[in-house]
Amino acid sequence: MSKIIEDLNWRYATKKFDPSRKISDTDLEIILEALRLAPSSYGLQPLKYLIIEDKDLRNKLKDQSFNQTQITDASHLIVICAFDEISELFIDEHLENTSKIRSISQESIAGYGNFMKKEILTMDKSKVREWNSKQAYIALGQLLHTCACLRIDATPMEGFNSEEYDRILDLKNEGLHAVLVCPIGYRSEADSNQHLKKVRRSKNYLFEIR
Ligand SMILES: Cc1cc2nc3c(=O)[nH]c(=O)nc-3n(C[C@H](O)[C@H](O)[C@H](O)COP(=O)(O)O)c2cc1C
Repeated sequence: MSKIIEDLNWRYATKKFDPSRKISDTDLEIILEALRLAPSSYGLQPLKYLIIEDKDLRNKLKDQSFNQTQITDASHLIVICAFDEISELFIDEHLENTSKIRSISQESIAGYGNFMKKEILTMDKSKVREWNSKQAYIALGQLLHTCACLRIDATPMEGFNSEEYDRILDLKNEGLHAVLVCPIGYRSEADSNQHLKKVRRSKNYLFEIR
């Protein structure tokens, strides 16, 4: 079987983590780099990743996550946040970064920049917020696959009160909101979900050649 398929079959949404096992610094670096490398629309990355270590904070967040034990038991807790808006300054920073990293002049990408600004700055505010949030899901996919390659368990989570997360983590002040949560670590032997067969729709249902 292909290594990719093996990795994807190995992973499952972990229900119970082993609280005694911690992810190494080396693996954590790889995971964070995979998040940094996640693609996004125009490459703007309107995201921030919070890695919550503080125990009290984790307990408070668990209370706002239907008491799901993964929040406190996993080795690390990643909260994927998106910006509420995109400002002209934010786009300019991206253009500046591009010109620096690629050693090209800002003038050479000004046309592209203006196109981007015209599209984004005229967008409805709620649409921008939603668009930014969608970028978080792309990062989540990359995170899950990277963890699986490293044989690190993860649970993608939408089951939390995002308004309460925003309040507890003081996200509004930074113009951010919590979109997704992903505890990562090592499965507990007692987690019976690891033995369940994957339930997926058939290829015939999902794929159509036209
Ligand atoms: C966006 C998203 C949100 C999810 N939220 C939760 C959650 O809050 N709690 C949980 O235990 N599982 C959650 N899941 C896990 C799914 O139930 C699980 O991925 C799905 O049933 C497929 O099973 P598998 O991941 O084990 O293959 C979520 C998955 C995704 C992709």
